[in-house]
Amino acid sequence: MRMTTVLFALLLSVAAGAALAEGDPAVGKVLYATCASCHGAAGEGNRALGAPRLTHLGAAYIEDQLLKFKSGIRGGSGSSTGAMQMAGMAVTLQDEQAVRDVTAYIATLDGPVSAVTVEGNDELGGDYFNQFCGACHGAAAEGNPALNSPRLAGSDDWYLLAQLDAFRAGQRGAHPQDRTGKQMRAMAGVLPDDQAVRDVVAFIRSRAE
Ligand code: HEC
Ligand code: HEC
Repeated sequence: MRMTTVLFALLLSVAAGAALAEGDPAVGKVLYATCASCHGAAGEGNRALGAPRLTHLGAAYIEDQLLKFKSGIRGGSGSSTGAMQMAGMAVTLQDEQAVRDVTAYIATLDGPVSAVTVEGNDELGGDYFNQFCGACHGAAAEGNPALNSPRLAGSDDWYLLAQLDAFRAGQRGAHPQDRTGKQMRAMAGVLPDDQAVRDVVAFIRSRAE
């Protein structure tokens, strides 16, 4: 009897999984019209609005973050203004299928890397990176999906700085259900001071392209 219940639950969850189709970039393109006002038509980002480049990111990471914004695990109370704004936008994506569709469209975009804006010693930054960051994000900051660690190479330097500051200040990664954010928050705290943060950002920016 018990076994039947377990099997039935299993079948149900398999069926639910199958109901979610691959992302459709054509549907996603329509949804992306809203996103473009901040992230740019080619996903290149907009510093004045604090909206980062999206085109270097992998689909799994984008989907995870959109679902986190939607549920307030990222961008909830205690977050930065930008993260709260983004959470407000994510709730306009109706469901998980819409998240997949818009992500599939972002994968077709190729907005360029933004200009250097953060000054730091990229050699010292490289030492910090190899010591503290590369194990998860990859030696060339290319990311590691198996560890949920996003690609950092190609990200705006001002955005990297803002996120490291947010992790360090407990504005990101503090929500009790933010399992991966918590891991990263602990790592951001390992950098000794603000200069070290700038150095590591300068190193990551030098890995773009
Ligand atoms: C009102 C401006 C605005 C709009 C519209 C907007 N965003 Fe954002 N988005 C932001 C800001 C600001 C951030 C940075 C949040 C932070 O600092 O944590 C962000 C962050 C993100 C991130 C996280 C990137 C990362 O590296 O972790 C993704 C993914 C994203 N947005 C996708 C979208 C999508 C998809 C849409 C459309 C449904 C959208 N955004 C609409 C402002 C916007
Ligand atoms: C234990 C593995 C791990 C280590 C080590 C690590 N990170 Fe991360 N990092 C993550 C994960 C996981 C995320 C995604 C967090 C989330 O889901 O919100 C992340 C996210 C980030 C982000 C946000 C990227 C974005 O697009 O929003 C930055 C910036 C970052 N890490 C920089 C660093 C730096 C710099 C170091 C070294 C000081 C480092 N990380 C070390 C796992 C790690």
